Amino acid sequence: MTQPAIRYELIKTCKQTGARLGIVHTPHGSFETPTFMPVGTQATVKAMSPEELKEMDAGIILSNTYHLWLRPGNDIVKEAGGLHKFMNWDRPILTDSGGFQVFSLSKFRKIEEEGVYFRNHLNGDKLFLSPEKAMEIQNDLGSDIMMAFDECPPYPATYDYMLQSVDRTTRWAKRCKEAHARPEEQGLFGIIQGGEYEDLRRRSAEALVELDFPGYAIGGLSVGEPKDIMNRVLEFTAPLMPENKPRYLMGVGSPDSLIDGAIRGIDMFDCVLPTRIARNGTLMTSEGRMVIKNAKYARDFRPIDENCDCYTCKNYTRAYVRHLLRTEETFGLRLTSYHNLRFLIKLMEDVRQAIREDRLGDFKEEFFEKYGYNVP
Ligand code: GUN
Ligand code: ZN
Repeated sequence: MTQPAIRYELIKTCKQTGARLGIVHTPHGSFETPTFMPVGTQATVKAMSPEELKEMDAGIILSNTYHLWLRPGNDIVKEAGGLHKFMNWDRPILTDSGGFQVFSLSKFRKIEEEGVYFRNHLNGDKLFLSPEKAMEIQNDLGSDIMMAFDECPPYPATYDYMLQSVDRTTRWAKRCKEAHARPEEQGLFGIIQGGEYEDLRRRSAEALVELDFPGYAIGGLSVGEPKDIMNRVLEFTAPLMPENKPRYLMGVGSPDSLIDGAIRGIDMFDCVLPTRIARNGTLMTSEGRMVIKNAKYARDFRPIDENCDCYTCKNYTRAYVRHLLRTEETFGLRLTSYHNLRFLIKLMEDVRQAIREDRLGDFKEEFFEKYGYNVP
Protein backbone atom coordinates (compact mmCIF):
# COMPACT_ATOMS: atom_id res chain seq x y z
CA MET A 1 0.00 0.00 0.00
CA THR A 2 1.21 3.48 -0.84
CA GLN A 3 0.78 6.33 1.66
CA PRO A 4 -2.66 7.93 1.48
CA ALA A 5 -2.65 11.48 0.09
CA ILE A 6 -4.03 12.93 3.31
CA ARG A 7 -3.09 11.76 6.80
CA TYR A 8 -4.20 13.23 10.12
CA GLU A 9 -1.98 13.04 13.17
CA LEU A 10 -3.68 13.76 16.49
CA ILE A 11 -1.14 15.35 18.81
CA LYS A 12 -3.34 15.86 21.87
CA THR A 13 -6.74 16.94 23.11
CA CYS A 14 -7.28 19.85 25.48
CA LYS A 15 -8.16 18.52 28.96
CA GLN A 16 -10.31 21.59 29.63
CA THR A 17 -12.40 21.50 26.43
CA GLY A 18 -11.71 18.41 24.32
CA ALA A 19 -10.39 20.55 21.42
CA ARG A 20 -7.91 18.74 19.16
CA LEU A 21 -4.33 19.70 18.34
CA GLY A 22 -3.17 17.93 15.20
CA ILE A 23 -1.18 17.91 11.99
CA VAL A 24 -2.56 17.24 8.53
CA HIS A 25 -0.03 15.78 6.10
CA THR A 26 -0.56 16.42 2.38
CA PRO A 27 1.44 16.00 -0.85
CA HIS A 28 2.43 19.68 -0.52
CA GLY A 29 3.56 19.50 3.09
CA SER A 30 1.85 19.63 6.46
CA PHE A 31 -0.17 22.14 8.43
CA GLU A 32 -1.10 22.29 12.10
CA THR A 33 -4.70 22.27 13.24
CA PRO A 34 -7.00 23.88 14.27
CA THR A 35 -6.34 26.12 11.29
CA PHE A 36 -8.00 28.89 9.34
CA MET A 37 -7.76 28.68 5.53
CA PRO A 38 -7.73 32.00 3.62
CA VAL A 39 -10.03 31.89 0.59
CA GLY A 40 -8.55 32.33 -2.89
CA THR A 41 -11.61 31.91 -5.09
CA GLN A 42 -10.01 33.05 -8.36
CA ALA A 43 -6.65 31.36 -7.76
CA THR A 44 -5.60 34.35 -5.67
CA VAL A 45 -6.38 35.41 -2.12
CA LYS A 46 -7.70 38.86 -2.99
CA ALA A 47 -5.00 41.54 -2.70
CA MET A 48 -2.38 39.14 -1.25
CA SER A 49 0.72 37.62 -2.88
CA PRO A 50 1.76 34.05 -2.06
CA GLU A 51 4.87 35.48 -0.39
CA GLU A 52 2.70 37.58 1.91
CA LEU A 53 0.52 34.58 2.73
CA LYS A 54 3.62 32.64 3.71
CA GLU A 55 4.96 35.55 5.73
CA MET A 56 1.72 35.63 7.75
CA ASP A 57 2.04 31.82 8.11
CA ALA A 58 -0.99 30.60 6.18
CA GLY A 59 -0.66 26.81 6.21
CA ILE A 60 -3.25 26.00 3.53
CA ILE A 61 -5.54 28.02 1.28
CA LEU A 62 -8.88 27.28 -0.34
CA SER A 63 -9.94 27.78 -3.94
CA ASN A 64 -13.10 27.15 -5.94
CA THR A 65 -13.95 24.56 -8.57
CA TYR A 66 -16.88 26.54 -9.94
CA HIS A 67 -15.03 29.80 -10.58
CA LEU A 68 -11.90 28.20 -12.07
CA TRP A 69 -14.04 25.99 -14.30
CA LEU A 70 -15.66 29.13 -15.80
CA ARG A 71 -12.47 31.21 -15.90
CA PRO A 72 -9.79 30.48 -17.00
CA GLY A 73 -11.08 26.90 -17.45
CA ASN A 74 -9.68 23.80 -15.75
CA ASP A 75 -8.01 22.79 -19.04
CA ILE A 76 -5.84 25.90 -18.91
CA VAL A 77 -4.94 25.36 -15.23
CA LYS A 78 -4.05 21.76 -16.06
CA GLU A 79 -1.90 22.90 -18.98
CA ALA A 80 -0.11 25.31 -16.65
CA GLY A 81 0.90 22.31 -14.55
CA GLY A 82 -1.92 22.47 -11.99
CA LEU A 83 -3.21 25.13 -9.63
CA HIS A 84 -0.10 25.20 -7.41
CA LYS A 85 2.14 26.09 -10.37
CA PHE A 86 -0.44 28.34 -12.02
CA MET A 87 -0.70 30.59 -8.94
CA ASN A 88 2.83 30.01 -7.57
CA TRP A 89 1.68 28.54 -4.24
CA ASP A 90 3.58 25.45 -3.12
CA ARG A 91 1.77 24.78 0.16
CA PRO A 92 -1.47 22.76 0.44
CA ILE A 93 -4.62 23.79 -1.43
CA LEU A 94 -8.19 22.66 -0.76
CA THR A 95 -10.82 23.13 -3.46
CA ASP A 96 -14.53 23.33 -2.78
CA SER A 97 -16.60 21.25 -5.17
CA GLY A 98 -18.84 23.88 -6.74
CA GLY A 99 -21.96 22.52 -5.06
CA PHE A 100 -22.25 25.45 -2.70
CA GLN A 101 -21.47 28.09 -5.38
CA VAL A 102 -24.20 26.73 -7.65
CA PHE A 103 -26.65 27.23 -4.83
CA SER A 104 -25.38 30.61 -3.68
CA LEU A 105 -24.62 32.30 -7.01
CA SER A 106 -27.11 30.96 -9.50
CA LYS A 107 -30.73 32.08 -9.50
CA PHE A 108 -32.09 29.40 -11.83
CA ARG A 109 -31.24 25.84 -10.98
CA LYS A 110 -32.79 22.46 -11.32
CA ILE A 111 -31.56 19.62 -9.17
CA GLU A 112 -31.82 16.17 -10.67
CA GLU A 113 -30.34 12.85 -9.71
CA GLU A 114 -27.72 13.21 -12.42
CA GLY A 115 -26.56 16.65 -11.25
CA VAL A 116 -27.56 20.32 -11.24
CA TYR A 117 -28.65 22.40 -14.23
CA PHE A 118 -28.15 26.12 -13.70
CA ARG A 119 -27.13 29.38 -15.32
CA ASN A 120 -23.67 30.90 -15.47
CA HIS A 121 -23.77 33.82 -13.01
CA LEU A 122 -21.63 35.90 -15.40
CA ASN A 123 -23.38 35.53 -18.76
CA GLY A 124 -26.51 33.44 -18.25
CA ASP A 125 -25.28 30.43 -20.28
CA LYS A 126 -26.76 27.05 -19.42
CA LEU A 127 -24.41 24.91 -17.34
CA PHE A 128 -24.46 21.46 -15.80
CA LEU A 129 -22.43 20.27 -12.84
CA SER A 130 -22.41 16.70 -11.56
CA PRO A 131 -20.32 14.63 -9.18
CA GLU A 132 -18.27 13.32 -12.11
CA LYS A 133 -17.73 16.80 -13.58
CA ALA A 134 -16.73 18.26 -10.20
CA MET A 135 -14.16 15.47 -9.80
CA GLU A 136 -12.80 15.94 -13.31
CA ILE A 137 -12.30 19.66 -12.69
CA GLN A 138 -10.66 19.12 -9.30
CA ASN A 139 -8.41 16.39 -10.72
CA ASP A 140 -7.30 18.91 -13.35
CA LEU A 141 -6.71 21.60 -10.72
CA GLY A 142 -4.59 19.16 -8.69
CA SER A 143 -5.63 20.38 -5.25
CA ASP A 144 -4.38 18.40 -2.25
CA ILE A 145 -7.87 18.16 -0.78
CA MET A 146 -10.92 17.94 -3.03
CA MET A 147 -14.49 18.23 -1.76
CA ALA A 148 -17.34 15.94 -2.76
CA PHE A 149 -20.13 17.49 -4.82
CA ASP A 150 -23.00 18.07 -2.41
CA GLU A 151 -26.24 19.93 -2.02
CA CYS A 152 -26.24 22.72 0.58
CA PRO A 153 -29.95 23.36 1.23
CA PRO A 154 -31.06 26.79 2.41
CA TYR A 155 -31.97 27.47 6.05
CA PRO A 156 -34.58 26.67 7.11
CA ALA A 157 -35.46 23.57 5.08
CA THR A 158 -38.23 21.14 5.98
CA TYR A 159 -37.38 17.75 7.42
CA ASP A 160 -38.77 15.98 4.35
CA TYR A 161 -36.72 18.09 1.96
CA MET A 162 -33.59 17.62 4.04
CA LEU A 163 -34.04 13.85 4.16
CA GLN A 164 -34.23 13.61 0.35
CA SER A 165 -31.29 15.99 0.04
CA VAL A 166 -29.08 14.09 2.50
CA ASP A 167 -29.64 10.82 0.68
CA ARG A 168 -28.91 12.43 -2.68
CA THR A 169 -25.72 13.98 -1.29
CA THR A 170 -24.69 10.49 -0.09
CA ARG A 171 -25.31 8.99 -3.54
CA TRP A 172 -23.36 11.86 -5.10
CA ALA A 173 -20.48 11.32 -2.65
CA LYS A 174 -20.30 7.68 -3.72
CA ARG A 175 -20.19 8.74 -7.38
CA CYS A 176 -17.44 11.26 -6.54
CA LYS A 177 -15.36 8.54 -4.96
CA GLU A 178 -15.82 6.30 -8.00
CA ALA A 179 -14.96 9.13 -10.42
CA HIS A 180 -11.86 10.29 -8.51
CA ALA A 181 -8.94 9.59 -10.85
CA ARG A 182 -6.01 10.01 -8.44
CA PRO A 183 -6.80 9.02 -4.84
CA GLU A 184 -3.11 8.47 -4.12
CA GLU A 185 -2.27 12.10 -5.00
CA GLN A 186 -5.37 14.02 -3.91
CA GLY A 187 -7.55 13.39 -0.87
CA LEU A 188 -11.34 13.53 -1.28
CA PHE A 189 -13.42 14.70 1.71
CA GLY A 190 -17.08 13.82 2.23
CA ILE A 191 -19.52 16.57 3.32
CA ILE A 192 -22.03 15.84 6.08
CA GLN A 193 -25.38 17.60 5.57
CA GLY A 194 -28.67 17.33 7.44
CA GLY A 195 -29.37 20.89 8.57
CA GLU A 196 -30.41 21.25 12.17
CA TYR A 197 -31.88 17.72 12.40
CA GLU A 198 -29.87 15.45 14.64
CA ASP A 199 -31.05 12.16 13.14
CA LEU A 200 -30.34 13.41 9.61
CA ARG A 201 -26.84 14.53 10.55
CA ARG A 202 -26.32 11.06 12.00
CA ARG A 203 -27.75 9.43 8.87
CA SER A 204 -25.45 11.54 6.68
CA ALA A 205 -22.34 10.97 8.83
CA GLU A 206 -22.85 7.20 9.10
CA ALA A 207 -23.36 6.77 5.36
CA LEU A 208 -20.30 8.86 4.52
CA VAL A 209 -18.09 7.22 7.14
CA GLU A 210 -19.06 3.90 5.54
CA LEU A 211 -17.58 5.23 2.27
CA ASP A 212 -14.25 5.77 4.07
CA PHE A 213 -13.07 9.22 3.00
CA PRO A 214 -9.68 10.53 4.28
CA GLY A 215 -11.48 13.50 5.89
CA TYR A 216 -14.94 14.89 6.56
CA ALA A 217 -16.59 18.29 6.44
CA ILE A 218 -19.71 19.65 8.05
CA GLY A 219 -21.65 21.60 5.44
CA GLY A 220 -24.90 23.49 5.53
CA LEU A 221 -23.97 25.69 8.49
CA SER A 222 -23.47 29.46 8.67
CA VAL A 223 -26.35 29.77 6.21
CA GLY A 224 -28.40 32.14 8.35
CA GLU A 225 -29.17 29.97 11.38
CA PRO A 226 -28.71 31.40 14.88
CA LYS A 227 -25.33 30.76 16.49
CA ASP A 228 -26.71 28.46 19.19
CA ILE A 229 -28.15 26.17 16.52
CA MET A 230 -24.76 25.95 14.84
CA ASN A 231 -23.10 25.10 18.15
CA ARG A 232 -25.72 22.46 18.93
CA VAL A 233 -25.29 20.86 15.49
CA LEU A 234 -21.52 20.80 16.01
CA GLU A 235 -21.98 19.23 19.44
CA PHE A 236 -23.90 16.26 18.10
CA THR A 237 -22.16 15.96 14.72
CA ALA A 238 -18.44 16.16 15.55
CA PRO A 239 -18.55 13.00 17.75
CA LEU A 240 -19.94 11.10 14.73
CA MET A 241 -16.79 11.89 12.75
CA PRO A 242 -13.76 9.56 12.84
CA GLU A 243 -11.16 10.58 15.43
CA ASN A 244 -8.24 9.77 13.16
CA LYS A 245 -9.30 12.05 10.29
CA PRO A 246 -9.53 15.82 9.83
CA ARG A 247 -12.83 17.59 10.53
CA TYR A 248 -13.62 20.68 8.49
CA LEU A 249 -16.39 23.19 9.22
CA MET A 250 -17.20 24.87 5.90
CA GLY A 251 -17.75 28.60 5.47
CA VAL A 252 -17.15 29.65 9.07
CA GLY A 253 -14.71 32.41 9.93
CA SER A 254 -15.83 34.79 12.65
CA PRO A 255 -13.41 34.74 15.59
CA ASP A 256 -16.04 33.55 18.08
CA SER A 257 -17.16 30.72 15.79
CA LEU A 258 -13.57 29.57 15.24
CA ILE A 259 -13.10 29.21 18.98
CA ASP A 260 -16.54 27.65 19.48
CA GLY A 261 -15.80 25.22 16.64
CA ALA A 262 -12.35 24.22 17.92
CA ILE A 263 -13.87 23.54 21.35
CA ARG A 264 -16.31 21.17 19.68
CA GLY A 265 -13.55 19.25 17.92
CA ILE A 266 -13.24 21.01 14.55
CA ASP A 267 -9.80 21.15 12.87
CA MET A 268 -10.26 23.27 9.74
CA PHE A 269 -12.23 26.41 8.87
CA ASP A 270 -12.52 28.73 5.88
CA CYS A 271 -14.41 31.92 5.16
CA VAL A 272 -14.32 34.99 2.91
CA LEU A 273 -15.27 37.09 5.94
CA PRO A 274 -11.82 38.48 6.91
CA THR A 275 -10.90 39.55 3.39
CA ARG A 276 -14.39 40.72 2.45
CA ILE A 277 -14.89 42.96 5.46
CA ALA A 278 -11.28 44.17 5.18
CA ARG A 279 -12.03 45.65 1.78
CA ASN A 280 -14.85 47.75 3.17
CA GLY A 281 -12.75 48.85 6.13
CA THR A 282 -13.88 46.57 8.96
CA LEU A 283 -10.96 45.27 10.96
CA MET A 284 -10.73 42.50 13.51
CA THR A 285 -8.75 43.52 16.58
CA SER A 286 -8.14 42.00 20.00
CA GLU A 287 -10.65 44.53 21.37
CA GLY A 288 -13.40 43.84 18.87
CA ARG A 289 -14.07 45.14 15.42
CA MET A 290 -12.92 48.51 14.20
CA VAL A 291 -14.56 50.54 11.42
CA ILE A 292 -11.43 52.26 10.24
CA LYS A 293 -13.12 54.92 8.08
CA ASN A 294 -14.70 56.38 11.19
CA ALA A 295 -13.76 60.04 11.79
CA LYS A 296 -12.38 59.25 15.22
CA TYR A 297 -9.33 57.61 13.59
CA ALA A 298 -8.38 60.68 11.49
CA ARG A 299 -5.60 61.65 13.91
CA ASP A 300 -5.03 58.28 15.52
CA PHE A 301 -1.39 57.42 14.92
CA ARG A 302 -1.40 54.09 16.74
CA PRO A 303 -1.31 50.76 14.90
CA ILE A 304 -4.66 49.10 14.13
CA ASP A 305 -4.11 46.59 16.92
CA GLU A 306 -1.41 47.21 19.52
CA ASN A 307 -1.21 43.43 20.09
CA CYS A 308 -0.85 42.47 16.42
CA ASP A 309 2.47 41.42 14.89
CA CYS A 310 1.43 41.87 11.23
CA TYR A 311 3.13 43.91 8.52
CA THR A 312 0.36 46.52 8.60
CA CYS A 313 0.47 46.99 12.35
CA LYS A 314 4.27 47.06 12.45
CA ASN A 315 4.53 49.82 9.84
CA TYR A 316 1.35 51.88 9.49
CA THR A 317 -1.11 53.88 11.56
CA ARG A 318 -4.89 53.91 11.83
CA ALA A 319 -4.88 57.44 10.38
CA TYR A 320 -2.93 56.31 7.31
CA VAL A 321 -5.00 53.18 6.67
CA ARG A 322 -8.18 55.27 7.06
CA HIS A 323 -6.85 57.79 4.54
CA LEU A 324 -6.02 55.05 1.99
CA LEU A 325 -9.48 53.51 2.25
CA ARG A 326 -11.25 56.85 2.01
CA THR A 327 -9.28 57.71 -1.13
CA GLU A 328 -9.90 54.19 -2.52
CA GLU A 329 -6.21 53.50 -2.89
CA THR A 330 -5.51 49.81 -3.63
CA PHE A 331 -2.68 49.73 -1.09
CA GLY A 332 -5.30 50.27 1.61
CA LEU A 333 -7.07 47.04 0.60
CA ARG A 334 -3.78 45.18 0.84
CA LEU A 335 -3.03 46.53 4.30
CA THR A 336 -6.48 45.75 5.72
CA SER A 337 -6.64 42.29 4.09
CA TYR A 338 -3.20 41.46 5.43
CA HIS A 339 -4.16 42.47 8.94
CA ASN A 340 -7.47 40.58 9.10
CA LEU A 341 -5.94 37.39 7.70
CA ARG A 342 -3.01 37.54 10.08
CA PHE A 343 -5.44 38.21 12.93
CA LEU A 344 -7.28 34.92 12.30
CA ILE A 345 -4.10 32.94 11.63
CA LYS A 346 -2.61 34.28 14.88
CA LEU A 347 -5.86 33.53 16.70
CA MET A 348 -5.53 29.90 15.63
CA GLU A 349 -1.87 29.85 16.72
CA ASP A 350 -3.04 31.06 20.13
CA VAL A 351 -5.82 28.45 20.16
CA ARG A 352 -3.27 25.70 19.42
CA GLN A 353 -0.99 26.94 22.20
CA ALA A 354 -3.94 26.98 24.61
CA ILE A 355 -4.80 23.37 23.65
CA ARG A 356 -1.17 22.39 24.26
CA GLU A 357 -1.47 23.87 27.75
CA ASP A 358 -4.99 22.49 28.45
CA ARG A 359 -6.47 25.97 28.90
CA LEU A 360 -8.62 26.67 25.84
CA GLY A 361 -11.66 27.27 28.09
CA ASP A 362 -9.81 30.04 29.93
CA PHE A 363 -8.52 31.41 26.64
CA LYS A 364 -12.05 31.59 25.26
CA GLU A 365 -13.29 33.55 28.26
CA GLU A 366 -10.41 36.00 28.11
CA PHE A 367 -10.84 36.44 24.36
CA PHE A 368 -14.58 37.04 24.47
CA GLU A 369 -14.19 39.39 27.41
CA LYS A 370 -12.24 41.78 25.17
CA TYR A 371 -13.54 40.97 21.69
CA GLY A 372 -17.21 40.54 22.49
CA TYR A 373 -19.38 37.65 21.34
CA ASN A 374 -21.31 37.50 18.08
CA VAL A 375 -19.16 40.18 16.49
CA PRO A 376 -17.73 39.50 13.00
N1 GUN B 1 -19.25 26.14 1.88
C1 GUN B 1 -19.98 26.51 2.95
N2 GUN B 1 -20.94 25.59 3.20
C2 GUN B 1 -20.82 24.63 2.26
C3 GUN B 1 -21.54 23.41 1.99
O1 GUN B 1 -22.49 23.03 2.68
N3 GUN B 1 -21.10 22.67 0.91
C4 GUN B 1 -20.04 23.07 0.14
N4 GUN B 1 -19.67 22.30 -0.90
N5 GUN B 1 -19.37 24.20 0.37
C5 GUN B 1 -19.75 24.96 1.42
ZN1 ZN C 1 -2.17 43.73 12.26
